[in-house]
Amino acid sequence: MCGIVGYIGKRDAAPILMEGLHRLEYRGYDSAGIAVARAGELRVAKCKGRVRDLEKILPDRFKGSPGIAHTRWATHGEPSDRNAHPHCDSANRIAVIHNGIIENATALRRRLAAEGIVFRSETDTEVLAHLIAKMPHDSLEGAVRAALQMVVGAYGLAVLDATRPNALVVARNGSPVVLGIGDREMFVASDPSALVRHTQSVVHLDDGEVAVLRADGFETSTLEGDPTAKTASTIAWTDDAFDKLDFDHFMRKEIAEQPDAARRTLSGRLEPRFQTAHLGGLALDARELLEVRRIKILGCGSACISATMGAHLIEQLARLPAHAEPASEFRYRNPVIEPDTLYIAVSQSGETFDTLAAVQEVKRKGGRVLGIVNVVGSTIARECGRGIYLHAGPEVSVVSTKTFTCTVMAFALLALHLGRIRDLSTAHGGRLLKALSELPVQIESILARDAEIAELARQLLACEHAYFIGRAAGYAVAMEGALKLKEVSYLHAEAYPASELKHGPLALITPQTPTIVVMPRDDLFTKNISTVEEIRARGGPILAITHAGDLPVSVEGRFDVPRSEPELDPILLNIPLQLLAYHVALQKGRDIDKPRNLAKSVTVE
Ligand code: AGP
Repeated sequence: MCGIVGYIGKRDAAPILMEGLHRLEYRGYDSAGIAVARAGELRVAKCKGRVRDLEKILPDRFKGSPGIAHTRWATHGEPSDRNAHPHCDSANRIAVIHNGIIENATALRRRLAAEGIVFRSETDTEVLAHLIAKMPHDSLEGAVRAALQMVVGAYGLAVLDATRPNALVVARNGSPVVLGIGDREMFVASDPSALVRHTQSVVHLDDGEVAVLRADGFETSTLEGDPTAKTASTIAWTDDAFDKLDFDHFMRKEIAEQPDAARRTLSGRLEPRFQTAHLGGLALDARELLEVRRIKILGCGSACISATMGAHLIEQLARLPAHAEPASEFRYRNPVIEPDTLYIAVSQSGETFDTLAAVQEVKRKGGRVLGIVNVVGSTIARECGRGIYLHAGPEVSVVSTKTFTCTVMAFALLALHLGRIRDLSTAHGGRLLKALSELPVQIESILARDAEIAELARQLLACEHAYFIGRAAGYAVAMEGALKLKEVSYLHAEAYPASELKHGPLALITPQTPTIVVMPRDDLFTKNISTVEEIRARGGPILAITHAGDLPVSVEGRFDVPRSEPELDPILLNIPLQLLAYHVALQKGRDIDKPRNLAKSVTVE
């Protein structure tokens, strides 16, 4: 999705902005651009393609300050040089970069065109540049405010006026904007990753806020002009965390980081004295949690799949009805919000638009919602106001790996906590605590067998379709395995409950369609064996993700994961499937960290 970066201070803005654009690349984009002010004039460069393409077209002496830069993910108008941001007014005085969608852009465009303005792009953003330029205000801030009063839609934006280079004006409504406080310099970005190289001290704008940035500080106010008070927070992540180190891809690095990330998710949360988990961020005491009759979990993509695993954990350990639903569906079906239901929003980035909208819908109807989020201070985390941070460290690859694992671990902690308030015995709680603390080492042992998985991946190279099946929580493992494989390798992969195979998809099984079967040695093992027999009878190849021990059926490949407590087995069963997707993509030569058409954080509808 689109990315914003801006700078005001004594230094030349251009290298700072270009480096910021590189930091934002992981979000997914199709064009990039930059504008700086110099001697009362704007200097602008932009093009379709990668940030490195922009670097190639930058003139030798492209210098100036303040400046703004952008990575665009097309919404209005195709990816092209002229649709890339920044967009300028007709006099080339005002430059605007914008994330989000202006819903009344067509009407505003028609009105401006009738006044004689000639548009140079098909974007909604250009409308903003012309509107701001025509406002009869002494200050840039006043002009931006007045223009935004006419606009309906979502935005995170930054505006530069070359004739008034002492300030940058930024505003937020539905799309993240973070200010970075430096030493007599200020930064702005849509994502803290573009700031951490320069400062750890940040301020998150809220919806409906405008900020004026000067080299020596900033002021914030509402769209109507009433001052607002902000407190700076510290970003825990350092610049090194965004480095690929010796790994070829961020996806591989983040898979390898899982043991440490998992340790951080558990850190300080295991409570052996009472055989439970301690989760201070819930801000709900035992009595309030006992009143909860149902749990509803919302998220998108992998977050929703981790929510499905979370629902299984909660039902098993706390015996509370729990259900996961895509946030993108939930928000549009006028859901019934019940006072005795606890709602949980799951989001790695904390910025996914659909999940945020679902949280707002729950809150609007008086529901209680907590967040399971990785990015501290992100919009969903702040909107929920309570919850569990993953502390997994930044995830740069578009495909989620370590945050998926850490989210399921966070759910295990929550389920243990809820269970121990209810009927889960101390003995069972104790076994789970021990098993949780062993997970990081068990994950390490799986990662050490990377070569075995690379070998299994070879068996998927020739096929065009693959099936993933499992039962109960194993089905959620299958769903995540299939999603990873399709995202990163572009292979058609479909997940099905093993129990449903003979109700339809069995018709598609041939010697050319391998099935990856998630089959832990649990109560459903023999049922899974029967399903495998049915697939074999149709000549379908089988790759089994299972536990050590004899398999009473022949398979083309298998990978045995270490055993945990049965409720936690899905966490370990998922790890080889991450590596399987990675190796298939690697062997197919895919753009692993930036799969086609995908963005890391989906901040628009
Ligand atoms: C995961 O591999 C995907 N890229 C995607 O499904 C992701 O999980 C989804 O967009 C939700 O993102 P979030 O966790 O940041 O809300």
